[in-house]
Amino acid sequence: MIFKQLFDAETWTYTYLIADSISKEAIFIDPVNTHIDDYIALLEANGLQLKYSLETHVHADHITASGLLRQRLGAQTAVSQLCGAETADVQIQDGDIFTLGSTEQLKVIATPGHTRGSISFLWHDRVFTGDSLFVGGCGRTDFQGGDPGALYDCITQRLFTLPDETLVYPGHDYQGRWVSSIKQERTSNPRLTGKTREEFIVIMNNLNLPKPRLIDEAVPANRYCGLDENERQDAVALRDTSRPVRSELSPQDLVAEAKKQITEVTVLTAKQLLAEGNIVLVDTREESEYAAGHIDNALLLPRGVLEFKIGNSPELSDKSKAVLIYCRTGGRSALAAHTLQQLGYKNVLSMAGGFDAWQKA
Ligand SMILES: [Fe+2]
Repeated sequence: MIFKQLFDAETWTYTYLIADSISKEAIFIDPVNTHIDDYIALLEANGLQLKYSLETHVHADHITASGLLRQRLGAQTAVSQLCGAETADVQIQDGDIFTLGSTEQLKVIATPGHTRGSISFLWHDRVFTGDSLFVGGCGRTDFQGGDPGALYDCITQRLFTLPDETLVYPGHDYQGRWVSSIKQERTSNPRLTGKTREEFIVIMNNLNLPKPRLIDEAVPANRYCGLDENERQDAVALRDTSRPVRSELSPQDLVAEAKKQITEVTVLTAKQLLAEGNIVLVDTREESEYAAGHIDNALLLPRGVLEFKIGNSPELSDKSKAVLIYCRTGGRSALAAHTLQQLGYKNVLSMAGGFDAWQKA
């Protein structure tokens, strides 16, 4: 057997490749559209033939590569019948089995709650849990038919009843953790361990997370296996292009909207506030930008992972404390400031002009 865990750094998504080394038949679980060429190269390098492209659910945070894999390689796409993805070749039901060669089998376990159609795949000693169960957490339940009670039931009754040593491979991780086990999650998952169903529901209903960045784009596209309208209509033309075109939300519009709702300060004012102390300074650029130079004592919290990592920052545990955010030019910090306000922070400032302006001053 062949097994590989792949990672999309832009959306913190794990994709899995499973293959039967005798028949060379392969399956992808949760492939991401921007990596289509890498996937094809990986299959070719291992002499594999892709039989299925499976989804744990219709994703809100990235666009699947399933439709492209079908077009380019003839793979069958498969999504839960409860996801409303009518163009998928296989409408998955609880208990279905996907077979590779004569020996390898993946069994479907319905794990609704993150979305209505969320499923997990059990293969040998491994379970691929999508966003139903994370390492030390679980997926949110506030959109796409999410239901915290259903999530609690399926995790405690269907996943936690698997053998202790079963390895848990999640759909995402935001802190670099690759794998866990059923025992580890059953005994130390802070969302679930020792919590009653009612307590879990209260926790999930009060997460107050901001809307995922790509939801308006990703969910409709993923209902068509990740293909946009042109791709759906013109599959032949797509075979000749090397990479799918990904349309983004206009960042300028988002920044302009955020700036109306937050408070900006000049570099001069920022310097005065920092000199006075008692303010948390947050750098919301990417790690590489931070490494190339940053303001002294700034806490690194990249915009893309802010809401997921904030809970690990003791400096930000007191929401009444003043926070000053900067990025390179003031756009991302405006978005981050708005996010912090939505998360309940009372005194958030964004530095106009960002680190560029700081250096010029
Ligand atoms: Fe999800």
